[in-house]
Amino acid sequence: MSRVPVAVLVSGSGTNLAALLESTSAADSLAEIVLVVADRHKAYGLQRARDAGVATEVVLKRDHPTPEAYDQALAAVLQRHGVEWVCLAGFMKLVGAAMLAAFPQRILNIHPSLLPAFPGLGVQQAAIEHGVRAAGATVHLVDGGMDTGPIVVQGVVEVHPDDSPEELSARILTKVEHRIYPMALRWAVQGKLRLRGRVVHVDTDEPLLVVG
Ligand code: GRF
Repeated sequence: MSRVPVAVLVSGSGTNLAALLESTSAADSLAEIVLVVADRHKAYGLQRARDAGVATEVVLKRDHPTPEAYDQALAAVLQRHGVEWVCLAGFMKLVGAAMLAAFPQRILNIHPSLLPAFPGLGVQQAAIEHGVRAAGATVHLVDGGMDTGPIVVQGVVEVHPDDSPEELSARILTKVEHRIYPMALRWAVQGKLRLRGRVVHVDTDEPLLVVG
């Protein structure tokens, strides 16, 4: 079985990376994580990658004069490693035109809200301030915007009345994020995602909404 080479891009702890490494370590996984890229040396995700025997690269903003140059460097690194699919997992940079051209409809992102509600940062604080009863996470294809791309799969959790942003965030991570990202990547490499307009159709009987 020839496996599909995947890169995961991180800036921080990388618990989603860990979930992806775990799921793709199964003998029947069609995806193989061949590279982890970070935009900072301190990203703990790099250590997780090394522990798993996966190649790492660090692409620093300060080494590139413009966001466009950064984006081109990122695409070049991924192409050098033969990557076919890209997973953003807590990567704190918007990808730009060079990345989108190099990997058309082949970049996934996970965001800790039920998009299109609460894109961007400070998400759990905002959700609590709005008094929402349900929160969750979304895996989507990446387009040029911030958390705006076509939705692949979502996971929902209950918001408790006394939740702090940290408590809500942890519930979303452990109950749904770590489940839905492996599902989305598996469908992606199996060629099960079809984009019609801005709607992603998934050729599966599995639920496209996970309840945590
Ligand atoms: C997750 O909440 C993810 O949804 C968001 O950034 C966070 C990354 O967490 N994009 P981790 O580094 O995977 O633990």
